[in-house]
Amino acid sequence: MSEIVSVPQHGPKHVAIIMDGNGRWAQARGRPRLFGHHAGAKRVKEIVRACPEFGVKYLTIFGFSTENWKRTQSEVAGLMSLFRRYIRKEARALKDEGVRVRFIGDRPRLDKKLRDLMDELEALTQENDGVHLTIALNYGGRDEVARATRRLAQDVADGNLKPEDVGEETLPKYLDTYVLPDPDLVVRTSGEARISNFLLWQSAYAEYEFIDTLWPDFSREEFGELVGAYSSRERRFGAVPA
Ligand code: IPE
Ligand code: IPE
Ligand code: MG
Repeated sequence: MSEIVSVPQHGPKHVAIIMDGNGRWAQARGRPRLFGHHAGAKRVKEIVRACPEFGVKYLTIFGFSTENWKRTQSEVAGLMSLFRRYIRKEARALKDEGVRVRFIGDRPRLDKKLRDLMDELEALTQENDGVHLTIALNYGGRDEVARATRRLAQDVADGNLKPEDVGEETLPKYLDTYVLPDPDLVVRTSGEARISNFLLWQSAYAEYEFIDTLWPDFSREEFGELVGAYSSRERRFGAVPA
C-alpha cells in the first residue's frame, strides 16, 4: 500500500537566531539602547538551557554583525563591554552545564581582551558535548565567504588544491562554521523580514521564521512553539515526496 503523506520528520537539530529588537525594546521603556542589550543578554541563558528539552543540539546566535560598527561609538563600546562581561560571568556555568561554546566571525577587529576571553571560553568548554552554542561576533556572511575564498585561493596557489577539484562541498571546509551542520531553522525576532548577512551559505535550505517579538521578550515557550511548528513541516530539498 502506498500513500502520499507529508511526514513530519523531526525537530530542528540546529537553530540559528538573529536576536533583534533590543533597541526598540529599550526605547519603548524610555531607556537607553544598552539597557535593551543587557535585557537581551539575559534571554540567551534561558534559550540555551531550553535546547536539550526541545532536542536542539546546535544553537547559533547573532551577537554583532560586521555592519554593526556603523552604530555610535558609545553603543559599540557598550556592546563590547557587555560581551566581555557576559563571557566572564557565564563561563563557569556554561562549562558545568556541558555547553560547548564556539565563536564565528572575523576576530582581528575585536579588541585583544575580548579575543582572549573568547579563546579561553572555547578552550574551557572544548570537551563538552551537550548543547553546541556558537556565538557570531563581528560576523558577516559575505565577509566569511570572502575570507574562506582567500584561504582557498592560497591553497590553490600553494599547490595543495586543484581548481578542478573545487566543488560545492569544498568551500564549507573553509568557512568559520566548518565543524557545524547547516542550520535547519533560522529565527529572526522583531518583525524585520531580512537576514542581514547572517549565515548566507549555510542557510540555503533552512526554514525561516520571522516573528514580531522583540528579542528581550523572547521566551522558552515561544522557542518551543517554533521548534514544534518546524517539526510539522515537510522539507523537500528539491525532491518530490515519495
Ligand atoms: C539587536 O538589537 C542586537 C544587535 C544588533 C547587537 P538592535 O540593537 O538591532 O535593536 P533594534 O533593531 O534597534 O530594535
Ligand atoms: C542583525 O541585526 C545583527 C544582529 C542581530 C547582531 P541588525 O539590527 O544589525 O540588522 P539590520 O540593521 O536591521 O539589518
Ligand atoms: Mg536591529
